[in-house]
Amino acid sequence: MAQNPNRMPRAARLPAGLGLLLVSLLLAAAPVAAAEPDARALYRLHCGGCHGQALEGGLAEPLIKSDWRFGRDGFSVESNIRHGIPGTDMPGYLGELSDEEMTALVELIYSLQTEEVWLAKPLPPAVETEHYTLRVEYLATDELENPWGIEFTGPSEALISEDAGYPLRYRDGKVDPERITGLPPVDVATSTGGLMDIALDPDYAENGWVYAAISHSEDPNDRYARGLTRIIRGRVDGNRWLDTEYLFRLDPDYHLPDSKHWGGRLLFDRDGFLYFSIGDMSAAMNSQDPSGR
Ligand code: HEC
Repeated sequence: MAQNPNRMPRAARLPAGLGLLLVSLLLAAAPVAAAEPDARALYRLHCGGCHGQALEGGLAEPLIKSDWRFGRDGFSVESNIRHGIPGTDMPGYLGELSDEEMTALVELIYSLQTEEVWLAKPLPPAVETEHYTLRVEYLATDELENPWGIEFTGPSEALISEDAGYPLRYRDGKVDPERITGLPPVDVATSTGGLMDIALDPDYAENGWVYAAISHSEDPNDRYARGLTRIIRGRVDGNRWLDTEYLFRLDPDYHLPDSKHWGGRLLFDRDGFLYFSIGDMSAAMNSQDPSGR
């Protein structure tokens, strides 16, 4: 099964004191500690009435399927159970079920799937959007490992970023297997980091600048190392990345530990301004802080 970024150990790094406290609390509670939540019983009691006792559907849609409408990743499924789905009859269970019970339900639902949940569904030959009909063409199928971004540098040429930290060239219908090397090292210890989006300078034809978002970590192989997304630019000459310049590189004081959510999307607007996202670095509540950070 593919790696699931939502199932990383949660309490792997408790401060020593807290760890001891937890151990003593657990010991104290041991004689009366509740058993693991019984997910099947919870499902029968709370969910089966609508989704069918065998998850086969009934008043609401089945929960064994590949076409998840509201998100198939662990975070989305748990969030749908926790908060309900507005505009449908799906109720929220916050306050009624504990975190452990909700996680156990998600795991039960996954364990009963008949198809690989994490595989994207094959695309249909055409996709209708509000304004366009998009025709689906496959440019590369097996040659790429984990592509993040693509930028066309010519009518049949493109650069593709691979999250392991190198771009590849797409030329005349195929991916050149020779990697473009010379970028700064990227964090590879977390599945969400790496060489992320790339963007071409609006004057790329004249100046050759390629912009890139990279996951910078103080120790690229330690997933708890402190770090923060960096934005760089450079030029590609043959299979070498040259002239690296740092456009966004914060002081180590601003680096955050447990770096999991890197962001990394790049976009130029019509006036030539570059917009980029950085992730919350697993400190999600910072983005809710109204003091303007
Ligand atoms: C009152 C009926 C009802 C109950 C009870 C209920 N659901 Fe739902 N659920 C729905 C409806 C309606 C939807 C939205 C569309 C559909 O599936 O029909 C939905 C959607 C969902 C989805 C999203 C499906 C998707 O395609 O993305 C999940 C996951 C889910 N429910 C899980 C649960 C779990 C787990 C429980 C029990 C804790 C539960 N539901 C209880 C009615 C219900």
